[in-house]
Amino acid sequence: MHYSQFTQRIAGEGAAAWDLHLAAVEAKRAGRDVIVLSIGDPEFNSPAAVTESAIAGLRAGDTHYADILGLPRARAAVATQHSRQTGQMVGPENVAIVAGAQGGLFCAAMCILEPGDDAIVLEPMYVTYEATIQAGGANLIRVPLRAENGFRLDLDDLARAVTPKTRAIFFATPSNPTGVVLNRRELVGIAELARKHDLWVVSDEVYSTIVFDGEHVSICGLDGMAERTVTINSLSKSHAMTGWRAGWIVGPQELIGHVANLGLTNLYGLPPFIQNAAALALETPVPEVASMREAYRRRRDLAVAALGQLPGIVCRKPAAGMFMLADVRGTGLSGHDYAWRLFRETGVAVLDATAFGQSAAGHVRISFAIDEATLAEACRRIAGFTKSLGKAA
Ligand SMILES: Cc1ncc(COP(=O)(O)O)c(C=O)c1O
Repeated sequence: MHYSQFTQRIAGEGAAAWDLHLAAVEAKRAGRDVIVLSIGDPEFNSPAAVTESAIAGLRAGDTHYADILGLPRARAAVATQHSRQTGQMVGPENVAIVAGAQGGLFCAAMCILEPGDDAIVLEPMYVTYEATIQAGGANLIRVPLRAENGFRLDLDDLARAVTPKTRAIFFATPSNPTGVVLNRRELVGIAELARKHDLWVVSDEVYSTIVFDGEHVSICGLDGMAERTVTINSLSKSHAMTGWRAGWIVGPQELIGHVANLGLTNLYGLPPFIQNAAALALETPVPEVASMREAYRRRRDLAVAALGQLPGIVCRKPAAGMFMLADVRGTGLSGHDYAWRLFRETGVAVLDATAFGQSAAGHVRISFAIDEATLAEACRRIAGFTKSLGKAA
């Protein structure tokens, strides 16, 4: 039978790196002594008050179709929180509730990119960006961030990548996988380019509450950016609510209108008991958000202390998020071979960072979405394995 060209465009290349993660999950299920540091799904429970709200909603029969763009309560809660956090004053009409930040990225790409347009992405990039941008026929243009610059943006590189075909710039700040937080100077530089060339900016801010060093700045709050910025966020990481798929888009009202039409063709509105619980999470202080950030900070410090001095490894200390990139080129192994040998010899699963683009080649990504004691054990195994490589050389 025939399948559309679309199916080719959504089959991203990054898929191979996940083989190791899948193998690890399978081995763990089979009862083997495996530590999975290859995924960013927080192991914390969702905040109890939010869970209770969803249960109460289910019991009360809050299980019917919801408004396609989201319940008025949920859209208002997002608008209030977004205005407070970013300095861009928005109302519910600027908000669409979508299926996770990923749903938001897809909606944004489909509504702003034409087939044949160029969309610039700062790379290393989150793995789904490739398929998301290419789905509608746009071209993905990578602007590599160099490891030797600490994966920071070189604004000249970005300026050189802009052509008459460029329609948008996509990035995540804080970044997955680098943990780099774009600073105000970098964001002002991106904003200047966007205004000069009349570009959209899609800013993925799912790690904005998990910043350890420096401050998170939202580009939408900079001069002249409200009309051309799509801000994407969710409760997945901030509230350990990955499975709830509670995400949103904030942008110009006209864009939200197009997202409504797109919603009519697929999601048809997030379940109302989830939206009401998500609204509660935004309306009331949730102490778990800060306590989880502090837990990630401790895990980051633990990993840097355990692995930072190892011969053959350079830890790229993340300023934010729940991942660390470790440069393993000094061991003589590629990221792929290091990750597979580490898994086979110690049971610790990390991800070859080339999944996030060639600019992360020679690195592996270590996730902190695991309790401290298990992370410490994983670090001991990583250290033992890395030292054994030195001896064999
Ligand atoms: C940078 C980035 N954006 C988006 C997502 C997807 O988030 P959500 O679960 O809200 O769809 C992730 C998940 O890992 C991510 O790392």
